[in-house]
Amino acid sequence: MQVHPSALITGITGQDGAHLAEFLLGRGYVVHGVRLYSATDDTQRLRDILDHPCFHLHIGDLNDGGALARLIRDCAPNEIYNLAAQSHVHASFKVPEATAQINALGPLRLLEAVRVLGREHDIKFYQASSSEMFGNAPAPQNENTPFAPCSPYAAAKLYAYWLVRNYRDAYGMFACNGILFNHESALRGQEFVTQKIARGVAALASDRDAPVLALGNLNSRRDWGDARDYVRGMWMMLQRDTPDDYVLGTGQSHSVRDFVNAAFDAAGFSLTWAGIGVGETARCSRTGRLLVRIDPSLFRPTEVNNLIADATKARTILGWTPETDFQTLVRDMIVAAMDDVSHARRDDHWANGNNARFA
Ligand code: NAP
Ligand code: GDD
Repeated sequence: MQVHPSALITGITGQDGAHLAEFLLGRGYVVHGVRLYSATDDTQRLRDILDHPCFHLHIGDLNDGGALARLIRDCAPNEIYNLAAQSHVHASFKVPEATAQINALGPLRLLEAVRVLGREHDIKFYQASSSEMFGNAPAPQNENTPFAPCSPYAAAKLYAYWLVRNYRDAYGMFACNGILFNHESALRGQEFVTQKIARGVAALASDRDAPVLALGNLNSRRDWGDARDYVRGMWMMLQRDTPDDYVLGTGQSHSVRDFVNAAFDAAGFSLTWAGIGVGETARCSRTGRLLVRIDPSLFRPTEVNNLIADATKARTILGWTPETDFQTLVRDMIVAAMDDVSHARRDDHWANGNNARFA
């Protein structure tokens, strides 16, 4: 009888959870996904795999160590991917304590559960660490760059990073940190800047009355890649014989302004920028229509200015390389956002009584 490897993924309803689950199911895994209890349907990103015979959803919470231990005992996974987090950096300034509970103590609860169950030598553990931990350390950043977190989010992630290293050293656990730079996809949450831009551009392209795209800091630079490349990298880390920490990123950085220009370009607009600081705007070069403005409430108390990955270690040891370039990523996100907008408009059209076709 064929024995399938099994994985437990926390944060299953998020962008990476959905992509990783699909990737692992494609490799013959039994996948156990952990989602928060929700009275509303939060499984949209999982709609293509919900009925897969090897996919199982469980209720759990990184704030509940007992529940995590029971899940690990009952699911008996070979691999745990801890992707659950309060993942929004700006939000972490507003809810720093809740962020620490989930992002710092959550991984502690999971690691302790594995240890208390006596499974520390047969479960491989992946922790979703972040390039945000580098803060404003000079770019490019790699595994040897000193960390300099500058948000409650990053500080909490750094606690978890060191904990993973400590559990590896102290208890011989196979535990890895993936220090991942920004990665995006059509499944990206709408509060992150790439998806906000993609959705905003799609709305402006299809509706003359759509709101102007209001953004914060246009000058920060990020190393943006495609989430599907990164979940493959997570899995590759756990297939090695020895645990280690790896940076994943493309090695290219672009400013938020670059992303805005590329997104409007993909939707057929060319932009003319004018003004400076909070007075900066972008208009359609052909019609003069106002498309982008600055909203100072979106500035962060402290900002990470420039992230660029040096992923040499992942390339040489894991054989990992990202397959999607920046232009393709932006175009794919715009196409998906346009598609969603046109579906929503069609649904509204019929919902508003224009359903004579079906009368
Ligand atoms: P995401 O879309 O925000 O997903 C986070 C997931 O965590 C959601 O499913 C969320 O559920 C869940 N969650 C929140 N609080 C929880 C709790 N107390 N217990 C259990 N689950 C909880 O984030 P992502 O982009 O997929 O990122 C995945 C992980 O990688 C995160 O840890 C993030 O910090 C880290 N990371 C992401 C990037 C990136 O660029 N995407 C880069 C580096 C590191 P709800 O949606 O129901 O709240
Ligand atoms: N979210 C957001 N909304 N960001 C904006 C906006 C806006 O309206 N306007 C400008 N920005 C700038 C932010 O100030 C930041 O410099 C940049 O856009 C990227 O912001 P986010 O998309 O929110 O991502 P992030 O870099 O802060 O964090 C993401 O990447 C980290 C890895 O470096 C998240 O996925 C984190 O969970 C992840 O760890």
